[in-house]
Amino acid sequence: MTLGLVLARGGAPAGEAKRARPRIGLSLDTLKEARWQGDRDAFVKRAGELGADVVVQSANSDDVKQVADVKALLTSGIDALVVVAHDGAAMGEAVRLAHASGVPVLSYDRLIRDADVDLFVSCDNVRVGIKQAAYLVEHLPHTREKPLRIVRVLGARTDYNVHQFKQGQDSVLGPLLERGEVKLVFDDWAEDWKPEAAKRIVNAAITQHGDGFDAVLAANDGTAGGAIQALEEEGLTGKVVVTGQDADLVALQRVARGVQAMTIYKPLRTLAGKGAELAVKLATGMPIVARDEVDNGARKVPAVLFDVTVVTRENLRETVIADGFASEQAVYGP
Ligand code: GAL
Repeated sequence: MTLGLVLARGGAPAGEAKRARPRIGLSLDTLKEARWQGDRDAFVKRAGELGADVVVQSANSDDVKQVADVKALLTSGIDALVVVAHDGAAMGEAVRLAHASGVPVLSYDRLIRDADVDLFVSCDNVRVGIKQAAYLVEHLPHTREKPLRIVRVLGARTDYNVHQFKQGQDSVLGPLLERGEVKLVFDDWAEDWKPEAAKRIVNAAITQHGDGFDAVLAANDGTAGGAIQALEEEGLTGKVVVTGQDADLVALQRVARGVQAMTIYKPLRTLAGKGAELAVKLATGMPIVARDEVDNGARKVPAVLFDVTVVTRENLRETVIADGFASEQAVYGP
């Protein structure tokens, strides 16, 4: 546990923004997954409560557009930049552009690599992967004689989170793979997190192995949905255990029906609210205490990381419903 202090960068003297109300630029990769719409809404709401304005841009998963979005935000005059990077490597350019204008940068949810990022706010993404893989290992039998056969659907290769999910998953599966108790019968990346890319991966796995697998280790609920479509076409729904992440409402409904085994509930409203609070502090040059740090290849970035919760059919009511993240009616239907 470290106590990193994020020092104000250039910009306004401590305690004031360059303008009457701090202005925060929020550059999103995409709004296609439901969670990002929730992150955006919670971020804008919290920033507004703190007297700050937020200008939002979404890049539709296009790196060139995301850099152009950042340039437009900087030109419009902002006191802090918050980025959900489509490509953590490509968005180092956003950090350099922002710092050239004396604007601090908060990397949100996905780590921008190899750049002088001021602050990183996310969940503990290695633990996300650990919990996804551990769910399969803890709930499904695996012996040398009858190994647990897994099809893995990773997310977008450009998203550094996926490398951390994979790191967590591999830390659980590695020893069992060596002992022959687990087999990865298929393993691929779903481009830009597209559900249709996930469906193609599971279709290919079925072509190659028929129903010769026991689980799909899907990295998020969107790819889980694509995987489940492929399973449904082969009558394998409910026979193959499927993981996910994000607690998307459609995924919670699948979990309630037993079609998807689990998802990962990230405290997205808390994450977005905290992100907004820290962005306002960056914008007004207030000191920030960050309890964690993450090496992004260029520096140890001060970080605020939240833990996550495994949601299954058994604990839906005690987690996402109790938190008000989803309603009983929405999850279970009429
Ligand atoms: C990841 C994020 C996941 C999931 C995915 C798809 O970076 O950590 O929660 O939402 O993007 O957008």
